[in-house]
Amino acid sequence: MQTFVVTGSASGIGAATKARLESDGHRVLGIDLNNADITADLGTLSGRQAAVAAVGDRVDGSIDGFVAAAGVSSAPGMTPHRMLAINYFGAVELLEGLRPLLAAAPLPAAVLFSSNSTTCQSNWHTEVAEACLAGDEEAAGALADANETPRGTQTYPASKAALAYYARTRSAEYISDGIRLNAVAPGVIDTPMSRAASADPVTAAATEKYIAAIPSARAGTADEVASAVTFLLGPDSTYVIGSVLFVDGGSDAAARGMDWPARKV
Ligand SMILES: NC(=O)c1ccc[n+]([C@@H]2O[C@H](COP(=O)([O-])OP(=O)(O)OC[C@H]3O[C@@H](n4cnc5c(N)ncnc54)[C@H](O)[C@@H]3O)[C@@H](O)[C@H]2O)c1
Repeated sequence: MQTFVVTGSASGIGAATKARLESDGHRVLGIDLNNADITADLGTLSGRQAAVAAVGDRVDGSIDGFVAAAGVSSAPGMTPHRMLAINYFGAVELLEGLRPLLAAAPLPAAVLFSSNSTTCQSNWHTEVAEACLAGDEEAAGALADANETPRGTQTYPASKAALAYYARTRSAEYISDGIRLNAVAPGVIDTPMSRAASADPVTAAATEKYIAAIPSARAGTADEVASAVTFLLGPDSTYVIGSVLFVDGGSDAAARGMDWPARKV
């Protein structure tokens, strides 16, 4: 039996991942705002620190894997700053806080949650993603608030691109501690998050148009993403490092075609 930590465990993909790991016989510590083993607001520094401390109190010096599924999309009342705080800093600061526990396990792995909005949605600000990677939460949040739509429709892909960039650019450093770091990039997955987007007058039309164009002609399921996550956590992916695995019914491939792979310049 291994021990895993999953954020966003109360709903959608995080809940499906927790259930899948538990049915495989593992112990899972779920972290979420409510209905979790550890309740914490990952949009705040104090919440992240409390969550890391709570994990440390509940395990015996190591964890085998970490899944950062907690996230938010555009919604009424959601500011770009808060979105970055949850999506990017809530994932990366938890990963960095849990890194010593991961490094103490025999074959540890971590999975961040990107999104195919990074490649299928245009007009998001690369500067916001770069500001996240620079690590100054206040500066990144202020930049997002100043430059983005109030609802954060452009901040969401920027936050998810930053997570993909983090997984790719930091994976060599993590593997030096034995930790495999990868990301998944889901497309439209049938969860409360995407159902809210379909019901929201601000995002409904774009969401439905997007779903209609998915090559597999349907939204994905949370279980289908959980399968990819458990693959990236487990013994069948020991040489997969720094990858961003698209789980999106073919949308990214259809949108980018031969844009990638691209020859090194
Ligand atoms: N559903 C999709 O279409 C889709 C597509 C691409 C990427 N994703 C990403 O997948 C991940 C899971 O999304 P989902 O569809 O399961 O969404 P969801 O809304 O069903 O679940 C997200 C969970 O994150 C938790 N959360 C939100 N803010 C938090 C905070 N401040 N502190 C702690 N927990 C918090 C929520 O309470 C919820 O339980 C997210 O990172 C999302 O951005 C989803």
